Amino acid sequence: MGRYIVGIAGASGAPYAKRVLQGLLSGDHEVKCVISDAGRRVLEVEERLLLTGNTETDHPDLLEWLQTPDADGQLELLHHKDVAASIASGSYPTDGMVVVPCSGGTLAKIAHGVSTGLLERAADVCLKERRRLILVTRETPLSLIHLRNMTAVTEAGATVLPGSPGYYHHPESVQDMVDMIAGRILDHLGVDSELLKEWRGPEPAEYAELE
Ligand SMILES: Cc1cc2nc3c(=O)[nH]c(=O)nc-3n(C[C@H](O)[C@H](O)[C@H](O)COP(=O)(O)O)c2cc1C
Repeated sequence: MGRYIVGIAGASGAPYAKRVLQGLLSGDHEVKCVISDAGRRVLEVEERLLLTGNTETDHPDLLEWLQTPDADGQLELLHHKDVAASIASGSYPTDGMVVVPCSGGTLAKIAHGVSTGLLERAADVCLKERRRLILVTRETPLSLIHLRNMTAVTEAGATVLPGSPGYYHHPESVQDMVDMIAGRILDHLGVDSELLKEWRGPEPAEYAELE
């Protein structure tokens, strides 16, 4: 199975991170997870998940939040200041990385190669090794700085996949909207999931309404 890196930065969108992690772990993939300080803060606010920053004690809490008690050996939580961790080196092979959610600050650091922490360094490594890098940005409206940084990372080989769900699948719940984005992320990572719903055009009944 594959080996993926999941970075969680301090933007709104913690439910996307949860669903992507669950999708990777249920697919028997190996996951290295790194969370910025602000990412921990957002997990606290949006998911009521209280992590301390101690990776050893946070690990079981993360698994409990993900409702994946059997994924103990598959998930490694790395400290964002540990720039000596495996994923900081290009010699450590991975199948790709997603930063979900990705703040404007982390986007800027990645766009400019400012690798002060493990999350940005791992992203930098993906770019230099020409590996998949997906940035699930979440900000609105966007400044010219955000737009220029998005252009820079796209030119360097990353995929900017904003956390903005569509409505044409007629989502019935917030979870449906989360799953739509998580399914697209997993698809871009090259991971099969049941979350991705293929669009085959409107139902015939919807055409009838137009007539
Ligand atoms: C609850 C909460 C929600 C936030 N939402 C966003 C957001 O959607 N986008 C963004 O760029 N920053 C957001 N921020 C601000 C970032 O967390 C802040 O700029 C932080 O310094 C980013 O650090 P990081 O990039 O190291 O994770 C949010 C902060 C909090 C506490």
